[in-house]
Amino acid sequence: MDTKRILTGDRPTGKLHIGHYFGSLQNRVKLQQIYETFIEVADVQALTDNFANPEKVKNNVKEIVMDELAVGIDPNKVTFFLQSMIPEIAELTVFYSNLVTIARLERNPTVKTEIAQKREIFGESVTYGFLGYPVSQAADITAFDATLIPVGEDQLPLIEQCREIVRKFNSIYGETLKEPQAYLGENKRIKGLDGNEKMGKSLGNAIYLADNEEEIVKKVMSAITDPNRIKKDDPGNPNICMVAYYHNLFSTKEEIEAICEECKKGKRGCVTCKKQLIKNIVEHLAPIQEKRHYYEERPKLVKEILIEGTVKARKEAKITMEKVKNAMKLDYFKEG
Ligand code: TRP
Repeated sequence: MDTKRILTGDRPTGKLHIGHYFGSLQNRVKLQQIYETFIEVADVQALTDNFANPEKVKNNVKEIVMDELAVGIDPNKVTFFLQSMIPEIAELTVFYSNLVTIARLERNPTVKTEIAQKREIFGESVTYGFLGYPVSQAADITAFDATLIPVGEDQLPLIEQCREIVRKFNSIYGETLKEPQAYLGENKRIKGLDGNEKMGKSLGNAIYLADNEEEIVKKVMSAITDPNRIKKDDPGNPNICMVAYYHNLFSTKEEIEAICEECKKGKRGCVTCKKQLIKNIVEHLAPIQEKRHYYEERPKLVKEILIEGTVKARKEAKITMEKVKNAMKLDYFKEG
């Protein structure tokens, strides 16, 4: 096993969908074979914009872990932990907050975009907690000495901010923390069923890993197809059809070729095409859902995985904390 350590995380605000699956989960499944991997359930970060919905955050913790286990993350290889159960992360966040200016946080493009999208939560003035979540994320990463952070492109500014904090810390208090690197992997961003660039819960355009056949039928049937194709025998353009886009993810090469060919000639109706896609999605998700059911029926096991992982993660965070406190001269009660 390589010496690099991976840390990544998810905010528990909803179940995971196929955008997560193709965008990051498949990548995690691969990387767990090569690197020691920590996966954080970022409940504290989720609360920064869901502080008024603690139930929602709580309920999604186990859903997220079950989704991860269902796609093949191996609990014997990977350490799952809960952010709120690692007080060292909160402690580091306080120390790091001296090393970041408000102007720098306000310039963070990811935070900026999110604040603009969350006007209904924050109104005119964003909370201190939300503006500062990049600091807390830097604590997530450095608490575990993680050096490789598999993330989507939208997270790059957060990793950059973490690197700056690390450099500043090391330059003031001496070489203590490791500078992490983002790992983009294949990083496919999956469009929504409506053609939106992003698939998301709030956008209502996602297929969840846990969706049953009925839900998948409903969603695929309402997917956007070539708008110029009005009658069944009009020639279609698969390049502007979301059903064709999803066939590319779930169907075989031969199927895709045949579908596109017939569509362009006006020989294949959209309903037939959608039905075939539904069948392929259902088949693809079947083993994932079977595994998910296994864990759904064993809530105790899921809890144990989280508890065990959190205990292990906490040990690591304590080691970092000790180094950080020594570097910062916060070692009053030490002997000698
Ligand atoms: N900000 C990430 C997201 O919204 C979640 C996250 C929290 C994270 N802590 C992290 C990602 C540490 C990578 C590393 O998806």
